[in-house]
Amino acid sequence: MSSENKDKTLAVVNCSQVVTLAGPARPRTGPELRELSIVANGGMLVREGRIEKVGPSDEIETLIDADTTVVDARGQVLMPGFVDAHTHPVFSGTRVEEFEERSKGATYQEIAARGGGIQSTVNATRATYEEVLAYESWRYSEWFLRSGTTTIEAKSGYGLSLEDELKILRVIKRLDESTPLRYVPTFLGAHSVPPEYHARREQYVSLIIDEMLPAVAQAKLAEFCDVFCEDKVFTTDEAWEILSAARCHGFGLRIHADQLSLSGGAQLAAELGTVTADHLEHTDAAGIAALKQANVQPVLLPGSVYALGSAHYPAAREMIDAGLAVVLATDFNPGSSPTPSIPMILSLAATHMKMTPAEAITATTINAAYSLNRGHELGSLEAGKLADFVIHACHDYRELAYFFGIEHPAAVYSRGELSHG
Ligand code: NIG
Ligand code: FE
Repeated sequence: MSSENKDKTLAVVNCSQVVTLAGPARPRTGPELRELSIVANGGMLVREGRIEKVGPSDEIETLIDADTTVVDARGQVLMPGFVDAHTHPVFSGTRVEEFEERSKGATYQEIAARGGGIQSTVNATRATYEEVLAYESWRYSEWFLRSGTTTIEAKSGYGLSLEDELKILRVIKRLDESTPLRYVPTFLGAHSVPPEYHARREQYVSLIIDEMLPAVAQAKLAEFCDVFCEDKVFTTDEAWEILSAARCHGFGLRIHADQLSLSGGAQLAAELGTVTADHLEHTDAAGIAALKQANVQPVLLPGSVYALGSAHYPAAREMIDAGLAVVLATDFNPGSSPTPSIPMILSLAATHMKMTPAEAITATTINAAYSLNRGHELGSLEAGKLADFVIHACHDYRELAYFFGIEHPAAVYSRGELSHG
């Protein structure tokens, strides 16, 4: 990114609340999820893209000099940019036809079983040139930024061949370099078994292990590896093989687990000690205990539950009570969760999962940052961290979860520079 403001200082003053999330340098659990470390009537000083000081507005004002750009928040809320720890943001086309069919009663699984679903997006993405795919996906980077998200985890998974997976990962890299949004790349070659391998699925697993993982590692195109572990997708044995191989290449591990059925994904995550286990709509008490034992972070995705018209939300309260460092994310994708909006997720978490607004904010900032190995530089407003922050057009942070269906950010800053507003 170019940066006119890099050697200048920026002061944000006159904030009704600075929601700092300052606290221990680790993911937050139990009652800590409710502790947002709010500075009332606060402000923040930023120098060269990093946070220098957070404190009462009048103290920050004394640090202003002739080179300081002053932003008057006019009594609005200042917060870290949201960190969205589970998205599928690079794909071609939409699935509006399937959406309409589901509105008439067809189910997600029925549509997938007849070659629609993930495979229809794979067909469209394979047929799209890299440049065009980058252009289509750039549109979504704007959507994330304007809803207050400054970092996303971004999965491949709509290529399902060596060349097409690499194409998607290169697009993610390009978007990271050319937009103000930060992308943390994840290889998801095990998103679905493509039709050309249906009669010999073990060869697709071998292709992932023997060719795709080494090529992605060699090109340094992903930090994490994920597998969609589910009945009729990848079995727990296949997921174990793929994730074990990924670990040998140095990838961090994530897994789509127990989304549509209790299929052993959470137990497998615990066995492997993955960084996260995502979805968990059907995980039972034994699964929750296993995740706790292995220190795995759950990434809960209520947007997909909502958009699939289900009422089966994951057991967030039980997970918090069990001491898990819960994360919430959008699961932005063209099938099960076409929303880039963390504020929408905050609303769903409060209304359907009985998480308080404070818990939901911790789960979409500092806990999400830790789940991406970025907790040391993102997810809270503390001296030394990167200056990714948002001024929300409200006076109390709880309004973010309470008013829904609107975009709250008045101004979004990435690396200390205005990226939206
Ligand atoms: O997280 N569960 C698997 N993958 C996505 C859905 C992807 C799609 O339908 O295109 C999810 O829900
Ligand atoms: Fe997903």
